[in-house]
Amino acid sequence: MAKITLNTSEIPEGKPKRVEIEGKGVLVARRSGKFYAIGDKCTHMGCSLSEGTLEGTVITCPCHGTKFNVTNGKVTVWVGKYPVLGRLTSFMKKDEPVYKATVEGEEITISD
Ligand code: FES
Repeated sequence: MAKITLNTSEIPEGKPKRVEIEGKGVLVARRSGKFYAIGDKCTHMGCSLSEGTLEGTVITCPCHGTKFNVTNGKVTVWVGKYPVLGRLTSFMKKDEPVYKATVEGEEITISD
C-alpha cells in the first residue's frame, strides 16, 4: 500500500492541495472538517484539478470545466465550459480514483 502522511494544517478548509503518491498526483481537500482525496489528473485531458475551484464538495477543472465530487470521485458535469465539446466527448467520461484519507490527531495519511 502506497501512502503519504501530512500535517492536517497543510490542508486548509476549502483550499485543495496536490500531493504525490508514488508519482501519481492526488488532490486532498478539507470540507467541513472532513478530508477527501481523489486523483488530481483530470480524466478529460489531464489538467491538475488542485488548481481548480472547490465549491462545497465539488472541484471544477480549470481547463474545460469538468466537475468532480471530491467525496466519491464522480463526474457531476462533463466539460462544463464547452457543452458541445462535452456532448461530443461524453464517451470519454470517467470518474477519478478515490484514495483513503485517515486522520489521527494532527496527522493525515493518504493511501491507495
Ligand atoms: S482537462 Fe479537465 S476539463 Fe478538460
